[in-house]
Amino acid sequence: KKVIFSGIQPSGDLTIGNYLGALKNWAALQDEYESYYCVVDLHALTVRQDSAELRARTLKNIAIYVASGLDPKKNTLFIQSHVPAHSEASWLLSCFCYMGELSRMTQFKDKSQKVGESVSSALFTYPVLMAADILLYNTDLVPVGSDQKQHIELARDLAIRFNNLYSPTFTIPEPYIGDTGARIMDLQEPDKKMSKSADNPNAYVLIMDPPDVIRRKISRAVTDDLGVVKYNESQPGISNLISILSTIAGKKPEDIEKEYDGIGYAKFKSDVAEALVEELQPLQNTVKQLLDDKPYMESIYKSGAEKASYVANKTLRKMQKKLGLIPR
Ligand code: TYM
Repeated sequence: KKVIFSGIQPSGDLTIGNYLGALKNWAALQDEYESYYCVVDLHALTVRQDSAELRARTLKNIAIYVASGLDPKKNTLFIQSHVPAHSEASWLLSCFCYMGELSRMTQFKDKSQKVGESVSSALFTYPVLMAADILLYNTDLVPVGSDQKQHIELARDLAIRFNNLYSPTFTIPEPYIGDTGARIMDLQEPDKKMSKSADNPNAYVLIMDPPDVIRRKISRAVTDDLGVVKYNESQPGISNLISILSTIAGKKPEDIEKEYDGIGYAKFKSDVAEALVEELQPLQNTVKQLLDDKPYMESIYKSGAEKASYVANKTLRKMQKKLGLIPR
């Protein structure tokens, strides 16, 4: 079986961008692949976190993975910090990664601007840890939204570099980016990607937002005064709502356009909101149940960490040996 690895940072409450760009695809792939899905808590620490909130969000994310349809028996679900091999492999890979490569990462440029003065060095080396995540599992496929493509390219470059300098060690991973939903935009400024760290809560819909909040946020989404439901560059707000609806309904944007030919924005928006509510409500109920069942949650991430450690340590030992580190 081919191997999948992906992860989400517990750095804020997850949005429908995370769901439609990543999680929804993951659940669809689980029968065909051997899959590892990680809550990347170490990545979240690259910007300041409240400890109690980080703990709560890490567990909530595991629950959201399961509630999105990832069967913990079929997929290895785990917490990044539970598998120390990630940190170690990250150090080893950082010895092969150039400053110039990291300086070109657009996510670093964006995030470091936001943080201002206190940019941690970890925010800069973050993509190396992500490469370690991916490469430790001999990953073939990394299902993500389009914003992560550049990071996966770096992971590929590092893998190729290491393989050439030593001997074939890593599988070269490929990104897997869905046709729709790969880039859900901000509801208030539809030229920006929807982000869990936006300041204005009307800019995003959270996976856990209650139905009335979802309806309100979608009804307030910025559109235009053209009055036609069309998927094109001059209507970024409407196009984004079309993306959302088409990803949920599994339809092409053109099908949505046809369906809404001659129909106004109010009706269109209310249909988008209802589709979201219908999609998310069962998931939300499951998350709440799971979070009440501590022993079950614990059993999921503990057995996940055990399975992941086994594979990750094997790769790490290979790396160490090839690099000339003496086995204990
Ligand atoms: P993160 O936590 O920012 O986002 C998690 C996943 O959600 C996708 N995503 C979106 N997709 C569509 N539209 C959006 N507006 C949107 N916002 C986020 C992201 O593309 C991603 O797939 N560096 C990663 C986490 C990571 C990782 C990894 C991913 C760490 N190690 C190894 C894959 C493999 C990140 O910050 O994602």
